[in-house]
Amino acid sequence: MKERLQKALARAGVASRRQAEEMIRAGRVRVNGAVVAEMGVRVDLTTDRIEVDGRPVDAPPAFVYYMLHKPRGVVSTVRDEGGRRTVRDLVPVAERVYPVGRLDMDSEGLILLTNDGALTHVLTHPRFAHEKEYHVLVVGEPTGEALQRLQQGVSLADGMARADEASLLMPSQNSWVRVVVHEGRKHLVRQMLEAIGHPVLRLVRVRMGPLRLGKLPVGHYRTLSPDEIANLRKGLPQTMTRPRTIAIDGPAASGKSTIGELIAKRCGYFYFDTGVMYRAATWAALDRGVDIRDEAAVTALTRQLHIEVKPPTVADGRQYTVLADGLDITWQIRTPAVDAGVSPVSAYPGVREALVAQQRRIAAEGPIVMAGRDIGTVVLPDADLKIYLDATPEVRARRRHLEILARGEPSDYDEVLKAMLRRDKIDSTRAIAPLRPADDAVIIDTTDLSIMEVVARVEQLICPAGRPSDAS
Ligand code: DC
Repeated sequence: MKERLQKALARAGVASRRQAEEMIRAGRVRVNGAVVAEMGVRVDLTTDRIEVDGRPVDAPPAFVYYMLHKPRGVVSTVRDEGGRRTVRDLVPVAERVYPVGRLDMDSEGLILLTNDGALTHVLTHPRFAHEKEYHVLVVGEPTGEALQRLQQGVSLADGMARADEASLLMPSQNSWVRVVVHEGRKHLVRQMLEAIGHPVLRLVRVRMGPLRLGKLPVGHYRTLSPDEIANLRKGLPQTMTRPRTIAIDGPAASGKSTIGELIAKRCGYFYFDTGVMYRAATWAALDRGVDIRDEAAVTALTRQLHIEVKPPTVADGRQYTVLADGLDITWQIRTPAVDAGVSPVSAYPGVREALVAQQRRIAAEGPIVMAGRDIGTVVLPDADLKIYLDATPEVRARRRHLEILARGEPSDYDEVLKAMLRRDKIDSTRAIAPLRPADDAVIIDTTDLSIMEVVARVEQLICPAGRPSDAS
């Protein structure tokens, strides 16, 4: 596919279109070996050799879409800590695809897997909830009145729930019923049928919006047809209102602060890294000789501590200046001692309570990109856009190792990896606010992506129809 050079560069994640035009004008871009300095040259990313500053530009990964008929007993995540079978095991394709939304382990039927983050976002975001149709085997034979009740609304533990449609498909001792809902609450359909006195024996999702499971056999998958993809996209808003709050979560060195800061700068958001607060509390405890294991003392200290994060006050490579009770501790919070202490400190409920309250106040002030471990799940559960960055532990340890060396400090890769695995484990298994993707988060695996590729994907989520400044 031929397209204009600046557009191709933007699509490949090199820069925005505007910036790509500047790069072209500055003579930094070569096509098949020759510098191209004028606008309007058309190229094909897959066949033309394009270089920026001498570095080759790769074509962006093509988007792929698969439909799976999920059997019972398979979890709809990419990886499972307990080693259970996942939907990813059943769709053994080369691309890094993720399931769109969840389907309970005990439920069956249609699940979509794709690497198209923008589509995942709009399909799973509550604002664009689309219909989901289920065939449900229930105990007994529901009466017309009982099914009517489902459509009028039944009261569940977490509020009212209403079916758009409910009808009897096959009456028997145990009957099949058809239920259409447009909400995504956990266990919704099971609870609704339980509420009218007909517990669920089997639950099969047969349709998501325009996409039908059809005759796809259990455990099998297939690619979507171009028509199916077009229909899925139809009806989705072309331009969404820009999100006001953006949550970025993920493990250490998954790219949260690099990406968060770039996105904030390019798209006009305030960037706030909540890890800084947990680090400041840990630093204060170490500084004052408070034993990190003394939960009550660390909590009391955190409650009193006045933490401020400001624009950089010294030009020494810092992203921001961190003050604790007025003292500049920007670099002190990055030492191995703080690294080692921060996970236990951040597992204390009282510490979290104090800091989360401050984080919510900060987020209420204006458009913000907030990074951390529990922003999408706990701090801002209603964030307009939730992103979960991930990468293999080895790649994350390598990034951290290089960062430390770049600061001129000694570093041992194996030690960094060990410390990182230890911290991952504490952060994701602690009782309070453990690290995990929110159900409606867009997961981006950054293992094989460049920084600009990740930035491009996130920008696409912020403005699916292109950045406002790129309207050429
Ligand atoms: O992102 P970071 O590595 O600077 O975070 C330091 C630690 O703080 C991390 O190990 C877990 C904790 N943390 C947290 O528990 N919740 C957050 N929202 C942010 C950080």
